[in-house]
Amino acid sequence: MSHIVVLGSTNMDLVAHVARAPERGETVTGHGFRTHPGGKGANQAVAAARAGGTVAMIGAVGEDAFGTRLRQELADAGVDTELLRLVPGPSGTAHIVVDDAGGNAIVVVPGANGSLTGLAPGDEHLIAAADTLLLQLEIPLGTVLAGAEAARRHGVRTVLTPAPAQTLPPGLLAATDLLVPNEHEAAALTGSRDPAEAARVLLDRVPEVVVTLGARGCLYAARGADQLLVPAPEVDPVDTTAAGDTFVGALAVALGEGRAMPDALAWAGTAAALSVQRAGAAPSMPHRSEIDASAG
Ligand code: ADP
Ligand code: NA
Repeated sequence: MSHIVVLGSTNMDLVAHVARAPERGETVTGHGFRTHPGGKGANQAVAAARAGGTVAMIGAVGEDAFGTRLRQELADAGVDTELLRLVPGPSGTAHIVVDDAGGNAIVVVPGANGSLTGLAPGDEHLIAAADTLLLQLEIPLGTVLAGAEAARRHGVRTVLTPAPAQTLPPGLLAATDLLVPNEHEAAALTGSRDPAEAARVLLDRVPEVVVTLGARGCLYAARGADQLLVPAPEVDPVDTTAAGDTFVGALAVALGEGRAMPDALAWAGTAAALSVQRAGAAPSMPHRSEIDASAG
């Protein structure tokens, strides 16, 4: 069994569908609206729980109806929310406009996620009991760093998704065991558009890197070893939202169960390929039985 703690964001995604996005000062009439729970932290937590991990989430929701729903969705997925704070003010929201050509424009308001400044009593204890801590960059960076350092003190593996891409605080990569950027984030971190080159550069700062390559799969690099390209299963994608989060959640589960990296990467790729064949973020994440059946 994998024991995973996620330290990260929860957001309510508010999605409006329009023929074309409005210009500044313009009003357009949309033809659809949906809300779904999201945030990279919560997405990774749900993905890991569905994939069969024991998962707890450290984060914050606001004192609004979104906060109630975000907590409930995590709990329904089997995620322990005891250390999910309830804070004054709004929950995190992502305001997404999707046009009929499939393009989108997004405003993220951190809300409660922005109030997650530092670890609370109990957080370090929870992290110490885990085998893996999953981190992303949608909460204050000082808190991400504090989490990584707490994990380091207790010999807990840290897996960092460096999204949204931004300058990292000194020390964060030094406390990271496995860095999992997509190819855009890898380019932003290194200045190199070539994933193999970017991975080589990143190995100066972390011991292991997985660059995800969308439909092409992923590239694994570790110090002192040849790079490994793990192709993705060929599928017809419907919605690639949260493919990366599904991948990371499943990867953490497989690694926590002691699987070797190549095997764990293939299994995570199977999970992510299942998720892109279905609409939505959390609703599209596969259960362990489906991943195992599809992995054959
Ligand atoms: P992100 O969602 O963070 O942008 P990627 O687009 O690289 O990350 O996708 C993450 C992983 O999801 C990939 O490494 C791959 O395993 C899987 N994946 C993404 N898109 C597809 C696709 N079209 N077909 C199959 N697998 C996919
Ligand atoms: Na999906």
